[in-house]
Amino acid sequence: MSPGHGHKSGFKWTRKHLLGLQDLSAEEIEHVMTTADSFKEVSTRSVKKVPALRGRVLVNTFFEDSTRTRTSFSLAASRLSADVIDFSEKTSSTSKGETLIDTARNIEAMGIDIIVLRHPAAGAAETVSRHVNCSVVNAGDGAHEHPTQGLLDLYTIRERFGKVAGLKVAVVGDIVNSRVARSNIWALTKMGAEVILVGPPTLLPRTFERFGVRVVHDFDQVIGQVDVINMLRVQFERIKSSQFPSVREFTRFFGLTSDRFNRCKKDVFIMHPGPMNRGIEISSKIADGPQSGILTQVTNGLAVRMAVLYLVTQAQSQVA
Ligand code: NCD
Repeated sequence: MSPGHGHKSGFKWTRKHLLGLQDLSAEEIEHVMTTADSFKEVSTRSVKKVPALRGRVLVNTFFEDSTRTRTSFSLAASRLSADVIDFSEKTSSTSKGETLIDTARNIEAMGIDIIVLRHPAAGAAETVSRHVNCSVVNAGDGAHEHPTQGLLDLYTIRERFGKVAGLKVAVVGDIVNSRVARSNIWALTKMGAEVILVGPPTLLPRTFERFGVRVVHDFDQVIGQVDVINMLRVQFERIKSSQFPSVREFTRFFGLTSDRFNRCKKDVFIMHPGPMNRGIEISSKIADGPQSGILTQVTNGLAVRMAVLYLVTQAQSQVA
């Protein structure tokens, strides 16, 4: 069987890049989900490898720190039998537009099929995609999008509840600086979930309502109503001091403490994209507890990234 084919609607995936979830249709998102289902099965075999991308080369191009996402992409690629190269460069610069395009072109000139890019500038992946012929997968661009994280979060919710439509999902904390929040908003709303954003006004402006979500500044007001709580990391490296009074105050009003957890629905599902600030946005007891899906998210990330790499590469050979 080749994953992603024989899908009921005869739907055909045509995107050779994955830049964000804002432009994806519900049908496309569902297609990634069902493709991931078939790759998840591969991960349970004793030989965890399929030849789907044999002879292909993926380069991980990370201009920001990351362990989990980079490792996940590397492992996903190697399970598809692709070769993986790591190109990591920390940069603090702002206007690296030209350098970035040059870098991407140079990488492509070495015969690369997929560039996985993480970059501090919003729009970096899109820019690169306009200058290369190979596939570009966005692994996080500034505070803009982190599409594979949004997809793996969606996959994990779908797996836990058997559906997404009709669920109430709270995304909590440092929303304004979060690409994970934005990709979650697109994925969840397109699939029919009700998204409730929770955070202090400084980290969650009302303008988010234009995305078709609820904006709530009082966590306790909604805590007993939601099916899923996705706690975001407080991104100290991005927050301006004026946005954030004190760590203690943040935990008091927006942390997932034991006291708050006790007021949640009985079967509430707890998520976090990692890396966690234990004791700040989430208590360790809850993060490591039986209702936490945090490590399941990491496991599912692999199947979802295998699906994405497979699909963009298939689209590439159709175009070529
Ligand atoms: C997220 C990211 O980098 O956007 N982490 C991740 O992908 N593992 C979330 C975060 O850094 O808070």
